[in-house]
Amino acid sequence: MQNTDLLGNPIFLKKVALFEKALQREIERYKDSVFYESLLYALSNGKRLRPILVLLCSELLNVPKKEPFSAAIMVELIHTVSLVHDDMIDKDVERRGMQSYHMKYGEEQALLLADFVLSLVLELSLRYSDTEIPTMTSRTVRRMSEGQLLEIKLRDKDKINWNDYFKIIDSKTASLFELSSRTGAILTTEDPYYIDAASEYGRNLGLVYQIYDDLRDWSKKEYVQKLDVDDIGNFLKGKIQYHMELSRNALKSLPESQARELLERFLNVIVKV
Ligand code: IPE
Ligand code: MG
Repeated sequence: MQNTDLLGNPIFLKKVALFEKALQREIERYKDSVFYESLLYALSNGKRLRPILVLLCSELLNVPKKEPFSAAIMVELIHTVSLVHDDMIDKDVERRGMQSYHMKYGEEQALLLADFVLSLVLELSLRYSDTEIPTMTSRTVRRMSEGQLLEIKLRDKDKINWNDYFKIIDSKTASLFELSSRTGAILTTEDPYYIDAASEYGRNLGLVYQIYDDLRDWSKKEYVQKLDVDDIGNFLKGKIQYHMELSRNALKSLPESQARELLERFLNVIVKV
């Protein structure tokens, strides 16, 4: 799927273009590293949903008090290595219309890339004086790995209940969306009410996105097939509606602004990507 399909809106496109520039500049710092070329490969062709979330949320209350690009790069890097490992775990040979990273560079390099990238993430998170950002970031990385492992562990079970399923998707996917929106909000306000509202928006957006993704190809996903409900398709559609509503309501508790309007649009297009 192309960015233009999702983000035909010129403001979204401009945000993505700004992000790409900042990302390139940041990664360029590692041009002498043995990981450099393959890191660029892993980062290419993404839709940049999480960075857009950071950038838009950083404009929710005011112009951001500190540059938001480090945080935007940070979440995209976390996302990227999670995909590299996910493809290796799932033995997927393709990603974003290209050979998956471990197929191209081998499993050893795929393992080590995550260590390399984690060091970049650590450094990026420490550019912010607000200690909540590095703290939340480590917590998120932890939760994402737990979500992935939970999914693997459930392979031995015949049935999975909604609580187990929810725990998996909340940890492996929604937590990073939540980190993105929360970090963005922290850069524009100190008001915990607004920061929590932005987090709530991002978390539910992430849940919507993952459930929608699961609904699209649940025949290929073990943890979805094993859901202990009568009609998986209808059940998941109901959950999408529910979490869209929660996300929309969280947004409504934030003051009206152009960023809020764009975030509302983001919520509406994300289930069509
Ligand atoms: C894929 O995420 C993994 C899920 C959470 C479903 P994206 O759909 O954001 O992947 P890219 O970055 O655009 O390739
Ligand atoms: Mg997987």
